[in-house]
Amino acid sequence: MINLSDYGIDMWDSDKIADFRRTLLAWYDREKRDLPWRRTSDPYKIWISEIMLQQTQVVTVIPYYKRFLDWFPTVENLANAPEDKLLKAWEGLGYYSRVRNMQVAAQQIMTDFSGRFPDKYEDISRLKGIGPYTAGAIASIAFGLPEPAVDGNVMRVMARLFEIKQDVGDPKNRKIFQAIMEKLIDPARPGDFNQALMDLGTDIESAKNPRPDESPVRAFSAAYLHGTYHLYPVKAPKKKPRPLQIQAFIIQNQAGEFLLEKNVEGRLLGGFWSFPIVETNLIAKQLNLFEKETDVLETISQKKLFEDDYLLTPTWSDKTFAPVKHTFSHQKWTIELLEGFVEKAELTSPKELRWVSPADFDAYPMAAPQKKMVAEVLKPKKK
Ligand code: ADE
Repeated sequence: MINLSDYGIDMWDSDKIADFRRTLLAWYDREKRDLPWRRTSDPYKIWISEIMLQQTQVVTVIPYYKRFLDWFPTVENLANAPEDKLLKAWEGLGYYSRVRNMQVAAQQIMTDFSGRFPDKYEDISRLKGIGPYTAGAIASIAFGLPEPAVDGNVMRVMARLFEIKQDVGDPKNRKIFQAIMEKLIDPARPGDFNQALMDLGTDIESAKNPRPDESPVRAFSAAYLHGTYHLYPVKAPKKKPRPLQIQAFIIQNQAGEFLLEKNVEGRLLGGFWSFPIVETNLIAKQLNLFEKETDVLETISQKKLFEDDYLLTPTWSDKTFAPVKHTFSHQKWTIELLEGFVEKAELTSPKELRWVSPADFDAYPMAAPQKKMVAEVLKPKKK
């Protein structure tokens, strides 16, 4: 257990803590949003909602949540889901490792807990992909256990309440926020307490447009009372995503079908289908060029590499497409599209390749950059 005063934090006495709980929960009882996962105490459903909510806002999550439970109504259905359907269920949410981990966790629940969702914090947090936040959210909301659920929203609210000087973006500081929450959380209503802070943190105490004067707990907020609200939370600037140049090969056969490739499992966007893509720097490396010479590369050599790699010899067109851009948290892709047509369409390379008509694209899970490429390729021609 850490000592909060070592971090310059003045913890409240028990009367103030009780007062805070009352004030926050009274506000929640008046103002709480009516959300589908708040109408259930089924830990499976709460788990799904919490994982989805880690990456997307509430309004976007609702239809995904409903469809997911429609497709996979039980832990067992999720444990046995075919990969394509699993990825389809997550298509557009991003961070696909999350849904893959969920399937592994569902399989753990089937084998280690006979299909019953575990009801102890320690057991819940041993499930694949469930970290302290998710374990706390499930334990408190579904099982009424007094476990904090500390995410960025909660850290922001705490940072303002206590004028916390430590960087909220640094994982080693999480224990400070966890320790505060362990003292504050209302053991009588832990799930509501956590969700009240989530509601507060995503709206009135949001990162971009906070409305501190409207906060139900402003009288408890050191930053509000001291006029230092704008200084919290303390957050070091994030590293910028690395720019990457990518080439995509838009290859059609005589039937008007496009060449799609299934990405290798275990890599970025593994398991998704895409027009074949190659990183330009990689091409440069294969040609033994130094990175600084990349720009001397001629498109001809990129096409040649495609031909050698995919064992196809397209007739290349000189059609130009708008470059497709997509930013992941760690990489910023700029994708150049190169178009070609083949007469001999046999697929002999060991890669997982298929000719697919655009009418059938929907049956192939595609991630955001691929969807953007498809939109560019199928864009109606300008007159
Ligand atoms: N964000 C994360 N979990 C949430 C929940 N249970 N309700 C509302 N917003 C959330």
